[in-house]
Amino acid sequence: MSGPVIGVFDSGFGGLTVLRALVERLPQAEFVFLGDTARLPYGSKSQRTIARYAAESARFLVERQGAKSLVIACNTASALALDAIEAAVPVPVIGVIEPGAEAAAGQTKTGDVMVMATEATVASHAYAAACQRRGLHGIEKACPLLVPLVEEGWTDHAVTEQVVRIYLDEMLAEARAAGQQPDALVLGCTHYPLLRPVLERTVPPGVTVIDSAEATAQRVAIAMAGQAESRAAEAAGMPRIRCFATDSVAKFERLGSRFLGRPVGTVELIDLGG
Ligand code: DGL
Repeated sequence: MSGPVIGVFDSGFGGLTVLRALVERLPQAEFVFLGDTARLPYGSKSQRTIARYAAESARFLVERQGAKSLVIACNTASALALDAIEAAVPVPVIGVIEPGAEAAAGQTKTGDVMVMATEATVASHAYAAACQRRGLHGIEKACPLLVPLVEEGWTDHAVTEQVVRIYLDEMLAEARAAGQQPDALVLGCTHYPLLRPVLERTVPPGVTVIDSAEATAQRVAIAMAGQAESRAAEAAGMPRIRCFATDSVAKFERLGSRFLGRPVGTVELIDLGG
């Protein structure tokens, strides 16, 4: 007997950090992960293009792989394409922005929350809006150099530490000039959890680093709790993970395990068009 099929989507393989948290919470589920590596990065593209790419990816997971729910493990797609995805597929869709903001609300005492993200996510102000809905003030910073550094595998490199420091210093200076006292930093991009050690070393004392992966997995687990299918799957044993990518399968297999925390196995190449 197989468990409920949960589709997990990212523009690349950074979303495997979310899948990792999901597997820990829902070990009986069956996961289908798609990384749209051919069209990465989404973070520097327009809303229209991101929405089209994300909707095509969502349809692949639901119509061709049988996903019964979708986790959008990509901040950029969650910020700019959640409506388009919901319109494209008839299954529940959970993004990472709201869980990230919720986790920040649970941590901050000052109410001033910093968010590092891609250019598109920052331009959408999705995090600022999600913070505002919780009575918090979101301070957003586009960090376009960080995804390529992670993709290069430079997660603990002196150059990366320097770049992180510059982005953080700029954001803190802006916040302090506006009289804010940020005490939380949300990792608003699924690549950034791999930079967590560097970020933890770089943030000022008293600032908590928040990864939306864990909060997202928690929300999915709550949404799935009590589903008959989920209970029936308890006899099924280990989670089953199938990974698909639109390009760079070898790179996905090589680097993906660092994000997932275990070997990703064979990654299947698919073509979603241009
Ligand atoms: N997955 C994207 C995000 O979480 C980062 C990579 C990209 O720009 O496509 O925002």
